[in-house]
Amino acid sequence: MVHKYQITGMTCTSCEAIVKSALLMVNNVTAVDVSKADNSATITMEKHIALSALQKALNSKYQISAIYHSETFEQTKSWFTTEKTTKMKAVTYTQYGPPGVLNVVDIEKPTPKSNEVLVKIHATTVTSGDTRLRSSDFPPVAWLFVRLMYGLFKPKKEILGHEFSGIVEAVGKDVTSYKVGDEVVGTPTTLTSGSYTEYLCIPENRKKGVLALKPKTLSMNEAAALPVGGMTALFLLQKAKLNTGQNVLIYGASGSVGSSAIQLAKAKGASVTAVCSSSNFDMVKSLGADATIDYKRQDYSLLDQKFDIVFDAVGKTSKSKAKKILKKEGRFASVAALTSPGQEHLEELCKLADEGKLKPFINKTFPLSGIVEAHEYVDKGRKRGNVVIEIVKQ
Ligand SMILES: NC(=O)c1ccc[n+]([C@@H]2O[C@H](COP(=O)([O-])OP(=O)(O)OC[C@H]3O[C@@H](n4cnc5c(N)ncnc54)[C@H](OP(=O)(O)O)[C@@H]3O)[C@@H](O)[C@H]2O)c1
Repeated sequence: MVHKYQITGMTCTSCEAIVKSALLMVNNVTAVDVSKADNSATITMEKHIALSALQKALNSKYQISAIYHSETFEQTKSWFTTEKTTKMKAVTYTQYGPPGVLNVVDIEKPTPKSNEVLVKIHATTVTSGDTRLRSSDFPPVAWLFVRLMYGLFKPKKEILGHEFSGIVEAVGKDVTSYKVGDEVVGTPTTLTSGSYTEYLCIPENRKKGVLALKPKTLSMNEAAALPVGGMTALFLLQKAKLNTGQNVLIYGASGSVGSSAIQLAKAKGASVTAVCSSSNFDMVKSLGADATIDYKRQDYSLLDQKFDIVFDAVGKTSKSKAKKILKKEGRFASVAALTSPGQEHLEELCKLADEGKLKPFINKTFPLSGIVEAHEYVDKGRKRGNVVIEIVKQ
């Protein structure tokens, strides 16, 4: 039986060749007629059109995971040799407790709604927020409130994970800002699923963001660690009116928020004093810190120097203590405060990353199967920068 497909929308010969050779490899296809469309489409559009045309032509029998411009024949072949899968791996927890409550399971792969994009997650992270939610480690005054919010007897949201990087695999019919093949970065906070999963559906527009094109300068692992620490630091430093030429002290400078804060303050042209253990001095200096103080050996509040901003990036100092070294108009900011960063914050971070001014510090990387070990490590409270879960091997 001869199947003949006509694919339109390709305006460059390499795309034609890829599609043609790929189609010829599919069972029963013995003839392919690739015709040219108008040549106004961009290369990316061509790929997009080619992909949807192929999906239609193949009647959804095969899953096409990616389409690139310069694939080799062998890579192209792999698109068509994978049978369509409806299952994916994810990490779930159905009770609060130690890292052992986390389980890698197979669940149904989601399908994007008309306003959503389906992202194949390449990397996510273990934030201190993830470990806190998992263990239900909340201050006594907030405990009941937080448990009512996140699940009184068991977690309402069974998949943790607050940030990710990945590639758009499919888009709903109303999506206009993203297309198949886009590399993206974002946070699923406020969605029903977190990012400890192989696939995630995310609306292209949300009230509090946030999805953006991945900075080209960052690897997938680095990009996954950009949103949470970076957006928190940027939001709080902006609130404290960070400006050029200021003197900024960052307390707890070696964590995820702290390591982002150093780079953001330096990018703005401030002078940075980093407070951390002496074992982390090299790290914070490599990120731009001008001076360092070991909190275990020296009380920062006894410094003679005065600061425009004291930023508590780890929630372990206080405004009353910071006041002693603040200038008259100086400001105190802390991660203990509620924050509400949005799309504009992530976009600013991506811009700074592309300008070479911001690069998330990666402490350790674990595979998805190592999620329990990764949580055990973060539980110790000593992580430097970020802990990444690499879902697709780089
Ligand atoms: N408000 C928000 O929206 C928001 C968002 C994100 C995070 N947070 C909160 O911000 C905090 C920091 O999170 P993170 O992920 O950046 O860091 P983290 O992983 O919780 O902190 C680890 C770092 O903190 C340092 N540290 C621990 N105790 C310290 C102390 N007493 N003094 C100074 N440094 C200390 C450790 O360095 P040493 O080993 O040298 O001690 C380590 O490098 C967490 O409490 C998190 O829940 C809040």
